[in-house]
Amino acid sequence: QISEAEVALFSVSSYACQRRTTLDNHNSNLTDALSLLAENAELSNEDGRGVAFRRAAALLKALPTQVISMSQLRGLPCLGEHSLRVIKDVLENGVSSEVESTKESKRYKALKILTGIFGVGAKTADRWIREGIYNLEQLRDSGQTLNRAQKAGLEHYDDLNEPVTKAEADAIGEIVQKAVNSVLPGSEVALTGGFRRGKLTGHDVDFLITHPEEGKEVGLMPKVVAWLESQGFLLYQKTTRNSYLESKDGPARPASNMDRFERCFSIFKLTKRKEQESTQPEEQNDLKTEDVLRPHMQADTDQQLCELSKNYQMEAASHKIWRAVRVDLVVSPISQFAFAVLGWTGSKLFERELRRWAGHEKNMSLSSHALFDNTQNKYLRATSEEEIFAYLGLEYIPPSERNA
Ligand code: GTP
Ligand code: MN
Ligand code: MN
Repeated sequence: QISEAEVALFSVSSYACQRRTTLDNHNSNLTDALSLLAENAELSNEDGRGVAFRRAAALLKALPTQVISMSQLRGLPCLGEHSLRVIKDVLENGVSSEVESTKESKRYKALKILTGIFGVGAKTADRWIREGIYNLEQLRDSGQTLNRAQKAGLEHYDDLNEPVTKAEADAIGEIVQKAVNSVLPGSEVALTGGFRRGKLTGHDVDFLITHPEEGKEVGLMPKVVAWLESQGFLLYQKTTRNSYLESKDGPARPASNMDRFERCFSIFKLTKRKEQESTQPEEQNDLKTEDVLRPHMQADTDQQLCELSKNYQMEAASHKIWRAVRVDLVVSPISQFAFAVLGWTGSKLFERELRRWAGHEKNMSLSSHALFDNTQNKYLRATSEEEIFAYLGLEYIPPSERNA
């Protein structure tokens, strides 16, 4: 038994944007459990519950040591009744029964598989499940009409569900830099998203593009995309135009959190470099065609042949010299660049908390375009993230400590 005097009591700020959250998480047993419930809530269109679990997980990520007793959590913010019940379960039993049963549920498994397809969100997945579609095979057999994104997502399913490494992100960064320099010399490319926060892997790579001369960036995205396409770097792309209206005295008041930059959701075709090739042993990479084909001769039945053909396809895929990687490109005018960098660096919860802080504590509206002070009824201009934190009355938190 641990006496109360022996357990450290933490003091933690209630907004994630007031805290320093590195990737060094001392409570991953607890945060994994809460994150899974958050994900399940989000996939079930229960956003309120999702945010509550995310906030609880984020609070635990910011603690300097491992939690071993419920008494250490007394008085801490962000921990609702439900989250506390899950934490207690994990501390006492090693696992949370709710998490375990969620993980095992047919619905959660199907939601994971189906939303693992690029272009498929919770709503679509839910509709498919109600029609009896639980996996990719059933989806293919169902004859559902897929849009262009979903078709690409299904085609590159395995690649896109394989985490992107930092080395791959850097390789893509070089390509994007080259594209941008070719179509508009002087343009700048910034890595944003999880990789800017120091993560070693990600589900995609995020870039923000700008030009030091205001206005030069107009129409840049289609040119960049055309260059990438002409060089064979794109497997899929969807570009959306900038819809952020400039009024006479500055950018329009941010109407929602949705940002309206020129942006491009894409799938890159990344040629594997030697050091990025699979880390499988040499002999496996040396597989000869005859080794793969020979078993076909021994197939006695159609079913066996089908199995062998599947194996062959898998072998062929493992020898692929390129792979598909999700890439997000965003173009911002230099006047909004600091807000765009801040908005696209994440984490998602950190961003949400920044906006909540701005609104609730400062009577300001923050977006990826601008910061509006509702009291003074004016925009606050900034050329760096530091300035934005200062306007918000927050201590500056560097990207590596925004991993809430
Ligand atoms: P992984 O990609 O999973 O490694 O994590 P990530 O943190 O990079 O997530 P993601 O690529 O989904 O998003 C990166 C940042 O961009 C996050 O801060 C998001 O909030 C932000 N973001 C994503 N989509 C949008 C959008 O449509 N508008 C705005 N303003 N921000 C977005
Ligand atoms: Mn990302
Ligand atoms: Mn992204």
